Amino acid sequence: MSSQPSLDFAAIRAHLATPHPRNNIPASITARACAGLHVNPLHPLGQLKARIQAYFERTGFSTFDRLSPIVTVRQNFDSLLTPLDHVSRRPTDTYYLDDDRLLRCHMTAHQVELIAAGHSAFLMAGDVFRRDEVDATHYPIFHQVDGVRVWDDATLPSVVGTTPKAREEFALAELKETLEGLVQHVFGDVKMRWVDAFFPFTEPSLELEIYFGNRWLEVLGCGVIRPRILAEAGRGSGSVGWAFGLGLERLAMVLHEIPDIRLFWTDEPRFTDQFAGAAPAGATPPVQFRPYSKYPGCTKDVTFWLPPQGLAENDLFACVREAAGDLVERVELIDSFTHPKTARESRCYRITYRHMNRTLVNEEVDRIQADVRLRISRDIGAELR
Ligand code: PHE
Repeated sequence: MSSQPSLDFAAIRAHLATPHPRNNIPASITARACAGLHVNPLHPLGQLKARIQAYFERTGFSTFDRLSPIVTVRQNFDSLLTPLDHVSRRPTDTYYLDDDRLLRCHMTAHQVELIAAGHSAFLMAGDVFRRDEVDATHYPIFHQVDGVRVWDDATLPSVVGTTPKAREEFALAELKETLEGLVQHVFGDVKMRWVDAFFPFTEPSLELEIYFGNRWLEVLGCGVIRPRILAEAGRGSGSVGWAFGLGLERLAMVLHEIPDIRLFWTDEPRFTDQFAGAAPAGATPPVQFRPYSKYPGCTKDVTFWLPPQGLAENDLFACVREAAGDLVERVELIDSFTHPKTARESRCYRITYRHMNRTLVNEEVDRIQADVRLRISRDIGAELR
């Protein structure tokens, strides 16, 4: 049942690069989609995913980790009851190929089809894509592991009873126990707490937090799958189930004390060698990343008048990422004002450039900054100052 076709990278990349008025996928994303970091046993993301997988597979879960990242609007949003006006549907937040297809922004996009195909205990792992801000913890591609468990009349323990409430309570208790066990399996003995949350596809919805490094950290989102979703996946009225989703980078950064999300994409041996020797399912205690010297960064400001139609900040961040690639560490708004007469708004953003593995040369930063300015005026229609 769980045999997976391998991904056809060439075909996927060709699809991503097909021109369409709604295609907002830059070359840097096309080049990095399907990199397979989460299936690489030498990479910290692959090791963490393997560790999660080992925990679930001992209770019979199967794993889907080669699902194509190209999904439909229906898979990513409609099938999960995401409201039509939800911000995540906007092209400022999501990468679209055309009117109907996009790069999944969460692994939950595959939930309904896999339940409908008859799977009842499974993980979905892969790369997900979001247009977002630029700092040490955000990168437009990251990796998630989602999990789903579904029961029906035949598989529910008979003691649970038949009322929807009793079944929901059973699923919720099983969910909490399973995920507390997972956290212990990954982090060892840590303090945990459950916090109420909201997701359109689960009710109730919760987040699990752990006390780690002297602060409470959100680890995952989860909840009891809404009955309507199970019904639409063809499951009978007695069925009940839970789902969760977690971000691998976020957890790996905490676990190994990795200070910058860009490091997951580097092929610098001073990074990769620290993990390549770890046990396949992740060593216990986890590898403590030894940061190699941080090279000097360099900041440049860019100031411009907003275009008449306004500015979606993610479009600005995209301009910087396209010009600078992984040399950009952070983009932050440092000043803004509105002209008293013209009512035009001016903004100043500070861009921090830093190479992970060497010192940047001034001329190269100047060249990148010139490209950033060009893109801001050309792609956003802002007037540079
Ligand atoms: N898809 C959610 C996210 O990306 C996580 C989630 C998955 C929450 C499944 C509940 C159930 O944040």
